[in-house]
Amino acid sequence: MPGAERTTKKLAQRIDLNYFKHPHPFRRWRFWLSVSVPLIAVLWLAWYGLTGNKRVYSGGKMSPAHVVLTAKCDACHFKLAGFFSAKASDRVCLSCHDGPIHHANQTFTPKCSSCHMEHRGQLRLAATSDASCTQCHANLRTVGAETHFARDVEDFGAGHHPEFAAVRTGSVDPGTIKLNHAVHLKKNLAGSNGPVQLDCDDCHRPPTSTDAWRFGSAPPNAAPAAQKSDLPAMSKSDLPLMVSARAYMAPITYAKHCAACHGLQFDKRFTEGVPHDTPEIVHAFVVQKFQQYIVTHPAELRETALDRNLAQKPLPVPVRVLTPPQWVAGRVGEAEELLWRKTCKQCHALSVSVGAALPTVAKSNIPARWFPHANFNHERHRLAKCSECHAAPKSQETSDILVPGVHTCERCHHAGAESAESRCFECHTYHDWTKAKEVKGGITFSGLVRDN
Ligand code: HEC
Ligand code: HEC
Ligand code: HEC
Ligand code: HEC
Ligand code: HEC
Ligand code: HEC
Ligand code: HEC
Ligand code: HEC
Ligand code: HEC
Ligand code: HEC
Repeated sequence: MPGAERTTKKLAQRIDLNYFKHPHPFRRWRFWLSVSVPLIAVLWLAWYGLTGNKRVYSGGKMSPAHVVLTAKCDACHFKLAGFFSAKASDRVCLSCHDGPIHHANQTFTPKCSSCHMEHRGQLRLAATSDASCTQCHANLRTVGAETHFARDVEDFGAGHHPEFAAVRTGSVDPGTIKLNHAVHLKKNLAGSNGPVQLDCDDCHRPPTSTDAWRFGSAPPNAAPAAQKSDLPAMSKSDLPLMVSARAYMAPITYAKHCAACHGLQFDKRFTEGVPHDTPEIVHAFVVQKFQQYIVTHPAELRETALDRNLAQKPLPVPVRVLTPPQWVAGRVGEAEELLWRKTCKQCHALSVSVGAALPTVAKSNIPARWFPHANFNHERHRLAKCSECHAAPKSQETSDILVPGVHTCERCHHAGAESAESRCFECHTYHDWTKAKEVKGGITFSGLVRDN
């Protein structure tokens, strides 16, 4: 190619040797940018500083519970020597609400803000990460004596959570009331008015229930519908209270759940039964009943000689005439033989101590809470059938423990998008709220709402 020869010289002539004397427009821009941007920033900061607005430092979106404090950064961030400090001490948190300690024997106390992550736009600050718990529970240590609990809990749902204490092998049901669930749940059970099919809710309901019980004793002078719930009156705005009040099942009582089918008759002379009470009160009741009876039926004092006519001799006239106290003592003895040895004993463990005239009834001890170290809420699990969690329909013995174990919960509570929450806070309480102290609010409203 002629004329297009590229010699080094020709190439060198293309370079402007005075290039540094006239600055490139880009360089000029760079200069002005580097001067003006910090200047604008300083002015901006100064403006916010002058108007007292600290949004400029924002660490991120506040959680809903604290969002009203967005204009009051210093509610949590102290000024250090007049400058904003990005640290938030436990003391400021405690100035608005208490966060009582977890356990007195813990080896250290983590900072509030290490568990409650502010500025992350979290819906609930109390929805803490598992790491906030497993920092201790993955290898639990205590001050002083051995720990009382499992020492390596890493997560829930993957088999790393210990079996619940109440259902571990070796634990016992402390209840003493005898009940065969299978017998009571079979078809065509003999009810008070013919055959019935019992349902769980004939005996187990939350304490807020006001529906009449099918097999309770009718209160003497009240319409059956007047059975009251065990809780104080609530209004319709009390939904959260209602939900928590339905968390556990109300205790079993003889009067509400057994009375209609298991009467406490003691003698064919009376249709009514004894009161369901201590043997002392039952005894006093029976004595009084027979005393009143014999006043109106004196003829019964003549005791006929039973079965004495075997030799077919003519019957002698009544062998003897009893005094009323003798007659009463005899009838009371018979009635109590039946009560203590059969009627009461069907459901209770009775014991007679030497020398005592009356037996003692063992405490019923039906547990109100099986998992004292965790929370549960039946209301939140209405989606499931009772028998999915409780093997009651097949249980023959009172001593069977019918509360579910960890694997039942893991079917829904495990990691993954389509599952129920499985982080520790869902089932456990961290703070010991029984030790909570009352805190007086100290915020003034002025400045809470920005006026700009
Ligand atoms: C309810 C208390 C609270 C309020 C109100 C609050 N913060 Fe924070 N802020 C925190 C906590 C807790 C931290 C974490 C600090 C720590 O670990 O000590 C934090 C951290 C920060 C950080 C450091 C960055 C980070 O995310 O760790 C900045 C910046 C910050 N906050 C700015 C602000 C500004 C600006 C405001 C006002 C608009 C504000 N904060 C209001 C509690 C609060
Ligand atoms: C100026 C008062 C104030 C300060 C300071 C404050 N809070 Fe709160 N906090 C509130 C109020 C008000 C609520 C909402 C009412 C409630 O739940 O008690 C709340 C609620 C909460 C909740 C429960 C709500 C949820 O989303 O789970 C947690 C947890 C909490 N604060 C933690 C903290 C922590 C940690 C700090 C310190 C970094 C702190 N708070 C500082 C006033 C304050
Ligand atoms: C090891 C993690 C952890 C630490 C540290 C911690 N919390 Fe909590 N906090 C929780 C969990 C989990 C809950 C929800 C269960 C509960 O109530 O205990 C909670 C609940 C709360 C609630 C009430 C939430 C509600 O529903 O009303 C407040 C308020 C609170 N914490 C404040 C504090 C304060 C203040 C501190 C520091 C003194 C603190 N927390 C330290 C884990 C922690
Ligand atoms: C600073 C260490 C520490 C942290 C963090 C911690 N725990 Fe504990 N936890 C303990 C100690 C200590 C005990 C008591 C052990 C004992 O007495 O044997 C305990 C006991 C328990 C128990 C059984 C007794 C009870 O309180 O019902 C549960 C459940 C529990 N922790 C749950 C949690 C959860 C959930 C978290 C996270 C929100 C958490 N812990 C965070 C140290 C810690
Ligand atoms: C006739 C009344 C009656 C009926 C119906 C009944 N239960 Fe029970 N239930 C009891 C009594 C009484 C106890 C306490 C004595 C015991 O431990 O067995 C009890 C205890 C329980 C317990 C506590 C745990 C345990 O091991 O003691 C569970 C759970 C339970 N029942 C579930 C059910 C379920 C589910 C149904 C329906 C399929 C049902 N029950 C039907 C009377 C009844
Ligand atoms: C059909 C079963 C049944 C029969 C029969 C029965 N009870 Fe009970 N009893 C219960 C139940 C269930 C409880 C626990 C709840 C309650 O107090 O109603 C109980 C509780 C008691 C208690 C309170 C125990 C405690 O925890 O301190 C006494 C006392 C008692 N019964 C006495 C008697 C006497 C006396 C008889 C016989 C006259 C009797 N019971 C017959 C079911 C029965
Ligand atoms: C609907 C009527 C009905 C109700 C309500 C009822 N029972 Fe029964 N119960 C029966 C009948 C019928 C039998 C006899 C069943 C059989 O042997 O087949 C029986 C038997 C029993 C037995 C002896 C069981 C056995 O294994 O032989 C006990 C103990 C008992 N019931 C306790 C209770 C207690 C406690 C309650 C209240 C919590 C209660 N029952 C409520 C009808 C009822
Ligand atoms: C998702 C599982 C699940 C389902 C479904 C369920 N329960 Fe429970 N139930 C439990 C757990 C867990 C406990 C132990 C709670 C505690 O006492 O700490 C319990 C406890 C009980 C108790 C003992 C008293 C108490 O409240 O602690 C009775 C009675 C009971 N359940 C009856 C029922 C009946 C009736 C139904 C159906 C309406 C039912 N449960 C549905 C899990 C379940
Ligand atoms: C789905 C509910 C659920 C979740 C999620 C859960 N637990 Fe539990 N946890 C329970 C129940 C129920 C118990 C039995 C409580 C009892 O025996 O009183 C228990 C017992 C415990 C105990 C006492 C163990 C013992 O030896 O008796 C510790 C400690 C514990 N959990 C820690 C944790 C930690 C840490 C996490 C998070 C990694 C967690 N749990 C998650 C339901 C749960
Ligand atoms: C059939 C699935 C299923 C099973 C099985 C199940 N859960 Fe849940 N659980 C859920 C769902 C869904 C929620 C959320 C309900 C809501 O937020 O209204 C929940 C919520 C909870 C809560 C929070 C209750 C509240 O007050 O917000 C606790 C605690 C809990 N479950 C414990 C347990 C325990 C313990 C077991 C095992 C005995 C268990 N769950 C078994 C589905 C299940």
